[in-house]
Amino acid sequence: MIGLHVGEPSFSPPGHVVEAARAAYAAGDTHYVPNAGIVPLRAAAAEKIATINGFEVAEQQVVISAGGAQALHVALSLAVSAGDEVLIPDPGWPNYAMAVGLLQATPVRYPLRAENGFLPDPTEIAALVTDRTKMIIVNTPSNPLGTVWGADVVESIVRFADRHDLWLLSDECYDALTFGVEHVSSGRFDTEQRVLSVFSFSRPSR
Ligand SMILES: Cc1ncc(COP(=O)(O)O)c(C=O)c1O
Repeated sequence: MIGLHVGEPSFSPPGHVVEAARAAYAAGDTHYVPNAGIVPLRAAAAEKIATINGFEVAEQQVVISAGGAQALHVALSLAVSAGDEVLIPDPGWPNYAMAVGLLQATPVRYPLRAENGFLPDPTEIAALVTDRTKMIIVNTPSNPLGTVWGADVVESIVRFADRHDLWLLSDECYDALTFGVEHVSSGRFDTEQRVLSVFSFSRPSR
């Protein structure tokens, strides 16, 4: 058996990143910083989102976390309460169900079927929505599937969230690993401020 779910790159961080960290420690940059992250880093993330991911965010809308996993947890805990339901992809990263369960909410799996190219079907997902559904989690590029959703699919799921008044948690931790295919961010279609986007420094970035 080959475990495909742990997405750790096989190589170390680039030398200039390691050097910058070393220089910061040597300069005494070792004290508390704002919980949301230092302003230059939030500004740099906002700039990356604008230029690479193709949608605008103010630096005040960017929060730096200890990894994508913490960002997912914080986003979930902001929007979901005990007893709520959260739509999660199946097959999908196993931690979604655990993170939802941690908040005493219920994960509801929406199928990504092989015969459908492992893409979501909004009509099928609509049948899973109840009056307790608060959020849909979207993961493209997908771990473990490796599928990358096209713009039409991403837009159809954002519109689905609009129709059902759901938060959309967009896990884009693999946004740079598409092997030549264009990655499309849900934030590009977010006209109603319902998308929470998560990115990660744990993977190579563009
Ligand atoms: C789909 C997916 N989302 C989020 C994460 C979490 O990323 P991080 O390592 O930044 O916590 C992972 C890590 O494997 C992942 O596979």
